[in-house]
Amino acid sequence: MLYPPQRYLVTSALPYANGPLHIGHLAGAYLPADIYVRFLRLMGKDVVWVCGSDEHGAAITIKAIKENRTPQDIIDQYHDLFKVAFEKMGIDFDIYHRTSAEIHHETSQEFFRTLHAKGEFIEKESEQYYDETAKQFLADRYIKGTCPKCSNPGAYGDQCENCGSTLSPTELIDPTSTLSGSTPQLKKTTHWYLPLDKYETWLKEWINTGIHNGHQLHDPKEWKNHVTGQCKSWLDGGLQPRSMTRDLDWGVDVPQEIEGAEGKKLYVWMDAPIGYISATKQWAKDNGKDWKTYWQDEDTALIHFIGKDNIVFHCLIFPAILNAHGGYILPKNVPANQFVNLEGDKISTSRNWAVWVNEYVEDLPGKEDELRYHMIKNMPEQRDSEFTWKGYQDSINNELVNNLANFVNRVVVLTHKYYDGVVPAFDPNEVFVSPSSEDYDGFHETEILQLHDDLQEVNEYIRNFEFRAALTHLMKISSQGNQLLQFNEPWKQIKVEPETVKAVMNLAIQVVTAISVVIYPFLPFTSARMRSLLKLSEINGDGELDALLVQLSEGELAIPAGHQIDKAVHLFSRVDDEVIETQKAKLGSSKEKETSTVAPVVAKEKKEEKETIEYNDFVKMDIKVATITHAEAVPKTDKLLKLQLDVAGEERTVVSGIAEHYKPEDIIGRQVSLLANLAPRKLRGVVSQGMILMAEDNDGKLSFVAPDVAVASGSVIS
Ligand code: 2FM
Ligand code: ZN
Repeated sequence: MLYPPQRYLVTSALPYANGPLHIGHLAGAYLPADIYVRFLRLMGKDVVWVCGSDEHGAAITIKAIKENRTPQDIIDQYHDLFKVAFEKMGIDFDIYHRTSAEIHHETSQEFFRTLHAKGEFIEKESEQYYDETAKQFLADRYIKGTCPKCSNPGAYGDQCENCGSTLSPTELIDPTSTLSGSTPQLKKTTHWYLPLDKYETWLKEWINTGIHNGHQLHDPKEWKNHVTGQCKSWLDGGLQPRSMTRDLDWGVDVPQEIEGAEGKKLYVWMDAPIGYISATKQWAKDNGKDWKTYWQDEDTALIHFIGKDNIVFHCLIFPAILNAHGGYILPKNVPANQFVNLEGDKISTSRNWAVWVNEYVEDLPGKEDELRYHMIKNMPEQRDSEFTWKGYQDSINNELVNNLANFVNRVVVLTHKYYDGVVPAFDPNEVFVSPSSEDYDGFHETEILQLHDDLQEVNEYIRNFEFRAALTHLMKISSQGNQLLQFNEPWKQIKVEPETVKAVMNLAIQVVTAISVVIYPFLPFTSARMRSLLKLSEINGDGELDALLVQLSEGELAIPAGHQIDKAVHLFSRVDDEVIETQKAKLGSSKEKETSTVAPVVAKEKKEEKETIEYNDFVKMDIKVATITHAEAVPKTDKLLKLQLDVAGEERTVVSGIAEHYKPEDIIGRQVSLLANLAPRKLRGVVSQGMILMAEDNDGKLSFVAPDVAVASGSVIS
């Protein structure tokens, strides 16, 4: 077993600066890396995380030609857009660099120069397509034609996006130049090739066993199956020499002192991954560090976060380049993710079938953690996953609101109600019902050890790049917190067993505190809100989880008795149907058509007016916000539902005539307005303790009257 490293260099694929980021990008290379890096910092590791814009390559020049702009203009636009999107989503790189920077040109040229001087390249003349009209050789992406495998007429010279085949331009049937539309001609040109075939045996051993130069560098069992699988299929197919230069006018120049360099640029994959190194150099310069510690010291673990389309470049070609250069470490793991589909279809830029990150943060400000949550829950870790807006709504309403926000809110409200917001001291011998089973006795001390083990389990999942499982386990900690309250009913026991309630409430606050730490990698904005609620210092990735695990394992509390906490705020608010309908309507529509189609709902006619009352009559009504915790049909009637409500920790039963308008399972967790001091009435044998206020339109349709953002249950309506 390899020991866990203390130092990490984490990279996320440099996005091409030729189009905005969508949720697929986010889930592929950025969100998982952000979780991992935040987690490493929580565990006190030394980490540098680098990324930046990939600003060369044919895709950028093609866009520039199409839009009649300069490539510089295009990369500036998208570089700025990426920075905003990442920052808003809490994707917190140590440096977000760009490959147009001088330090990058120098670094990638140094690589080329070294490989050239070491005789690692072979120079080869070949025939490549040339556009006589545009007077230039054509990069693979500039040539379109019919795919020889699936007959798709729009295949590119390097790939068919219809069947996914990797192609070379000469395989295309009826090729045309996308620059001029003319038929390109084959013409001789000379390029430098990296003989990947020469590295095949070495790559096979390194991928299959983790051994390099007799050293065990990684455990292949820790790599994802789909990653090793893709590498093996490339290796089994036999590697071919790959050209490391191109005849282009946008990119990094081949060092000019090399004979024949004129007009030649580095191949984008001989340029972009070296961007990780140049970004680290820039970061080190800005922070008074030595970049070599992160790239050339065997004790550093290099982790590449990428999407599955980049596997071959990060697991075979870049390692071959690093090895050919010498003196560099190799990746310890490449936890590539698969793709995200959207509402049953592939994400597509041309069809505008995407959720664009910049649009999301503008349309739904303050809901960044909500998107993070839903994307992590559906992260395509082993296979492609599916994003639906309904799924997004359900994740928020059923899990973030009903489970997490509800738990935190109940704990904070009850702590204020019973102890004026001060964490209560307790007698360790008090016995209560354990949240793991209604049949078990719980002691504060054993539950704290259980909490430690639960955090450790989240920790293990993250270490193994299983972020979905880690999040599920984290939410289980919150559900058990809810159960702790549900089983022990402090709102009933406070009068009968006040000492037991102190132990229960103290434990519940410990659980909230632990969640505020371990949630930081997943939902950093929520962690900050929870810390402020608890009046504890914000988590900043300084070994806090490591310290907490030690504390809990020694039976020490996460938050001491006597600590004053703040008043309740709701962590999440429900997402209504209109929000997701508006978002769904945007899919597939062109930007011009993108105006809201939601018409305001106007009541057809006014209801009969009631007589004027005095203010004193109004204030007699005690109207409060309540949260529905349970709902079921009342037997033998079509109209009535029996609702259990939470009103600031107090439970109420109310019978309401809404069964024809709402299904019980759809309303759990909803906030409603409750006329709390209406005299109790018996309806169909059930005592109803209050009345829910409803709006009725002229068609008799009922809807809840509720605050427009979630508020603490028990809030007074006046
Ligand atoms: O697929 C892409 O978007 C590439 N721009 C990724 C480059 S990753 C790295 F090598 F820079
Ligand atoms: Zn095809």
